[in-house]
Amino acid sequence: GELAPLRVMISGAPASGKGTQCEMIVEQFNLTHIATGDLLRAEVAAGTEAGMLAQEYMQKGQLVPNEIVVAMVKNKLDIAPNGWLLDGYPRSLSQAEALEAFDIHPQIFILLEVPEEILVQRVVGRRLDPVTGKIYHLMYSPPETPEIAARLTQRDDDTEAKVKLRLKTHSSNVQSVLDTYKDVIKVVDGNRPKDQVFADIQNLIVELQGKTEVVPAQ
Ligand code: AP5
Repeated sequence: GELAPLRVMISGAPASGKGTQCEMIVEQFNLTHIATGDLLRAEVAAGTEAGMLAQEYMQKGQLVPNEIVVAMVKNKLDIAPNGWLLDGYPRSLSQAEALEAFDIHPQIFILLEVPEEILVQRVVGRRLDPVTGKIYHLMYSPPETPEIAARLTQRDDDTEAKVKLRLKTHSSNVQSVLDTYKDVIKVVDGNRPKDQVFADIQNLIVELQGKTEVVPAQ
């Protein structure tokens, strides 16, 4: 039968693997990937007013004010007819409440769990390909060719000191978000090779699709 559009949230600490899993989810399930970190970095790169303000917070590993983030996400959700994959939002109770007020609810909230010492290693080794947007890691997910290796970039906030601040922000906000979505949370062990993590996520989404199949009208 026909499949209804899916509404998926993915969450986890900095460098838990959200972006990496989203690359694989999007390829398989054709959802619109909405990543607040990516949207904000695009604003910063474009030098917009919102970007200039956001940058101050991002540099300190703090949450960017809701005035910037909430509308940005809402606009993207409104143009996602094939379903959405929301990555890195909501990150606070007030952000979750904003979505609830718009009557926007996920069917599943995937929580990636990774121990803190692993997160730091992942952050300092992370590199990005500015051409394809693909996420790499010098040890765990090295670039395929010397040509790609030569053009890789590093995020400003990917230092050990800054990830500690990002982790602090995360841990002081995460519980209220989890409480909001407790009925639909699925915890996934993110401390395994990325293909194994994805296999679990894939099963969860396929299972969800089975439940949301549209029954044709008689
Ligand atoms: P954002 O860009 O969302 O950063 P983050 O939450 O810190 O998450 P990351 O992008 O660092 O990590 P990830 O989980 O995607 O991991 P990845 O797959 O890359 O946010 C940045 C900033 O923007 C925030 O600090 C805040 O200021 C602001 N912001 C964002 N959203 C906001 C919001 N809603 N409200 C307010 N402000 C907001 O993987 C990491 C590395 O590990 C990579 O190198 C990867 O190759 C490697 N890796 C991934 N999976 C595996 C695996 N299974 N095994 C081994 N290595 C792996």
